[in-house]
Amino acid sequence: MNKARESVHGMWSSRWVFIIAAIGSAVGLGNIWKFPYITGEYGGGAFVLVYLLCIAMVGIPIMMAEILVGRRGRASPINAMRYVAKEEGASRAWCLVGFSGVLAGFLILSYYSVIAGWALAYVFQAIGGGLNDVSPERAGELFDDLVGSPGQLLFWHTVFMIMTIAVVARGVRDGLERAVTILMPALFVMLFVMVGYAYLEGDFARGVHFMFDVDFSKLFQVCSGPADAQDCRVSSEPLLVAMGHAFFTLSLGMGAIMAYGAYVPDRASITGATIAIAGADTLVALLAGLAIFPIVFASGLEPSSGPGLLFQSLPIAFGSMPGGYWFGTLFFVLLVFAAWSSSISLIEPAIAWLVESRGWRRATVATLAGVCAWLLGIASALSFNLWSGEEYQILGKTLFELKDFLTSNIMLPLGGLLIALFIAHGAGRHMALNELSISRQRLFNAWWFLIRYVSPIAIALVFLQVTGLLEALGVA
Ligand code: PFF
Repeated sequence: MNKARESVHGMWSSRWVFIIAAIGSAVGLGNIWKFPYITGEYGGGAFVLVYLLCIAMVGIPIMMAEILVGRRGRASPINAMRYVAKEEGASRAWCLVGFSGVLAGFLILSYYSVIAGWALAYVFQAIGGGLNDVSPERAGELFDDLVGSPGQLLFWHTVFMIMTIAVVARGVRDGLERAVTILMPALFVMLFVMVGYAYLEGDFARGVHFMFDVDFSKLFQVCSGPADAQDCRVSSEPLLVAMGHAFFTLSLGMGAIMAYGAYVPDRASITGATIAIAGADTLVALLAGLAIFPIVFASGLEPSSGPGLLFQSLPIAFGSMPGGYWFGTLFFVLLVFAAWSSSISLIEPAIAWLVESRGWRRATVATLAGVCAWLLGIASALSFNLWSGEEYQILGKTLFELKDFLTSNIMLPLGGLLIALFIAHGAGRHMALNELSISRQRLFNAWWFLIRYVSPIAIALVFLQVTGLLEALGVA
């Protein structure tokens, strides 16, 4: 095993700290805000099933591969790929995967920060009593008022970006480590409370049916409009989105987990850590769905109402539950923390690379990168109001939607595909065997089979399916 190399950014003090930090990266808006609304948009059960399959067959093997390369290279993803490629006699061009990850990180952060800003705004709404006794109509109005106001969105986007940069500037280890250790368990407890409320007061049975009854025809359909007058077309988009979301939610395909892997102690078991991270992440997403959909159905909201789903549904619950003032405030505070511990990992690969290659101070690099992401984020904030019109759309998508689509559904799976190919065909078996040090040969063989064949073929098939469809439609 390669012990000579050391990370210049420090190391996690233990395996647990790594697991907690990686859960901090994985669990975020993707689980609580995005998973429920895309499940709602793409029809429920079949979408959830594909998403879970992608986590198991593609996400988990690729997460192990990312941690492995990070730890072996002990450097930012760009340099880790470069070092490992050199060591294993593979082409240096593999480090391009790291560059595409850095770009994806910027693009994601530039809208992630805007949505995290919504959560911040809701913390203050809740504290100010704005969520007391809200009706479904009032909850909708509150949300529309917020996203309709460029000034408010830019303000909260700015506050959140400053929070992110402040932590990254100090180094991820000293930054959020302690907070995440306390707040992540608190978020779990809070989600259980919300599921309990949804069970007692919401339409729980319908929520469960929606999430877990599998209707495969919905996998090849995209529908819009109200439930009674839906306009549906054939599309393999749900497949692509389910796979893309598996990458997004596990923070894979752009080097975030690889960057964290560079600080993992030599002895730590990569397999065990991966199972813990993916398990916790999936549990949070399913709990969020079980908390939200019963309330959505009981309040007559549309599951397919889009990015506002969480913000329009949960306030109704807080408005009517006993102690709702405190629960509402605490929920949005925890949501902000979950987003915060994810956003720092979005920018860490870029910062680590700049510190290594330019020798600049972390604080300087973090500020520079933060300003770039903030500037890019202005377009995301405005795409909900001033720039929401068709004249500002590209391929029928607002800039927010376009960035989300490009990163989650194209760049991250492509990054993941290349990492899988790098491990299985570029670097080779003996390096992986050494680094993973899995004592049970069968377990290693199973992983090797997944990373060598199953994950790349699954990603390629989903991509081909989509390009095939575009061709059929005459778009590509
Ligand atoms: N996994 C985070 C979430 O689910 O909110 C988002 C994210 C973080 C995506 C870091 C990608 C990443 F590299």
